[in-house]
Amino acid sequence: KEQTYIMVKPDGVQRGLVGDIIARFEKRGFKLVALKLVQATTEHLEKHYADLKGKPFFPGLIKYMASGPVVAMVWEGLDAVKTGRVMLGATNPLASAPGTIRGDYALAVGRNICHGSDAVESAQKEIALWFPEGLVQYTNTLEGWVFE
Ligand code: GTP
Ligand code: MG
Repeated sequence: KEQTYIMVKPDGVQRGLVGDIIARFEKRGFKLVALKLVQATTEHLEKHYADLKGKPFFPGLIKYMASGPVVAMVWEGLDAVKTGRVMLGATNPLASAPGTIRGDYALAVGRNICHGSDAVESAQKEIALWFPEGLVQYTNTLEGWVFE
């Protein structure tokens, strides 16, 4: 089963959107396999966003992401990476459709509330980076009602 790394950013935590974001993934039918509240270091965040090093907004992005705790999660299910991205909405909230997390709660690209892995390969890298201790193994008895 596919897994994706979803993270409520510091603005999402401060604005009290953690429960709403978790509820959306739960209700969609995904299985929660890891969850923690973390104050990330700049070194850790620079690894997470390594692909964006060199972009003019990179220093501001790292400062924003280190400005408070984040909620790190791994969700598992059918096409978790792609569906997670659809649920988040476009990177720039100006273009995020209503009904998406960013389209419902965000206005600015530099304060866009939530992260989601953009490919299966990056999901695997991000899960290893944020959860070196591993994920939680258990059976979700409802899974057979969500997909074949
Ligand atoms: P993440 O899920 O956070 O990885 O966002 P994304 O995959 O939709 O976009 P991307 O990985 O390209 O950029 C990572 C983050 O950098 C975005 O979510 C924004 O918070 C920030 N960012 C991207 N582009 C810009 C920009 O042009 N200006 C500013 N200020 N921030 C940006
Ligand atoms: Mg990204």
